[in-house]
Amino acid sequence: MVGARPQFIKAATVSREILAHPSVHELLLHTGQHYDENMSRIFFRELDIPEPDFNLEVGSGSHANQTGRMLQGIENILLHEKPDITLVYGDTNSTLAGALAAVKLHIPVAHVEAGLRSFNRAMPEEINRVMTDCISNMLFAPTQTAVQNLHNEGLSANTIFTGDVMFDSVLYYQSAILNNPEKYATPGIPQKYLLATIHRAENTDQPENLKKIFAAFSQLPFEIVIPIHPRTRKILDKEIIVTPNIHIIEPVGYLQMLKLTIDSLKVLTDSGGLQKEAYFLGKQCITLRTETEWIETLHNHWNIITGSDPDRIVEAALLPTPSASRQNGFGDGHAAGNILKKLLS
Ligand code: UD1
Ligand code: UDP
Repeated sequence: MVGARPQFIKAATVSREILAHPSVHELLLHTGQHYDENMSRIFFRELDIPEPDFNLEVGSGSHANQTGRMLQGIENILLHEKPDITLVYGDTNSTLAGALAAVKLHIPVAHVEAGLRSFNRAMPEEINRVMTDCISNMLFAPTQTAVQNLHNEGLSANTIFTGDVMFDSVLYYQSAILNNPEKYATPGIPQKYLLATIHRAENTDQPENLKKIFAAFSQLPFEIVIPIHPRTRKILDKEIIVTPNIHIIEPVGYLQMLKLTIDSLKVLTDSGGLQKEAYFLGKQCITLRTETEWIETLHNHWNIITGSDPDRIVEAALLPTPSASRQNGFGDGHAAGNILKKLLS
């Protein structure tokens, strides 16, 4: 079950693995949480994800409204299809709705990217993660930190370290991009730039934070390219001053995004997925949040936490990129294979 942009990317890797095993049949359910062409369809097309068997077209709404409509729709489909097992990804409202609908029908739930914690219960994602992990039968942990978090919550018996499917994904697509750089290049952007994305509730529901982030960007002696999330676009149109060094572009496909990351000087983001991709691709990340779930990326200052504090953002952006090594705490690039093996066993 998928619904939001990062879940399409995670599911692409697992679905490819499942397709290689004719004994397993995957039915794909899209809740419709993300629905714009460049937030949804583009990923299915580009990453060869099978067409969803079901699309609930739930769309946007308040948390309860959106999650409630997902629960009803998912339950109907599960009752009809009676799957042997359900797979949910990450920490969105689609993740929680999928897990909750399934567990109440006594259908086993497997959670890909289990055990991540920010320890910040003001984040909707933290609530979704904690709840989903509590009710899942198999907890596929991407890092040893996640394994430890699950252990601390008494969930070790269901925990399996698999590595991170997003690491698999970068390894899988990196050479395609390097072999065909023109195809994935973004036209009209500067040659040297910082890459930024912003969409978290803490930065968009509180326009003061977004204003501070853009104030920091305006002070930097760099061009900044921002593929803008529709949630952020809404506020930007109303409240934020965008200086000429800031280049706002529409959200892009995954391969174009990896190419933008590869070609960037640094990454500034509040995204979970992009923090990791920056790390995998050797770009220093400045995290526009007050904490991170991906603490492995903090090693040797490859990731610096600044929140929305303009002084800290500027200071971090001006630092030289670290020359010290990065650790690999994200598995061996076969996370999806490990997940499928466990599901089959
Ligand atoms: C959701 C996830 C977040 C994840 C992010 C990935 C939850 C609570 N949050 O946040 O964890 O990091 O996806 O991108 O599940 N919108 C559009 N078109 C779309 C999708 C959204 O215009 O295709 C706009 C709508 O105004 C909507 C807003 O974006 O109200 C927020 O969308 P929503 O799916 O509720 O949350 P995200 O911020 O995308
Ligand atoms: N991404 C993308 N196009 C964009 C912005 C991001 O393909 O315009 C990818 C990014 O490379 C990463 C994933 O989307 O793989 C992260 O999703 P997002 O930031 O929406 O959510 P999060 O990871 O924070 O939950």
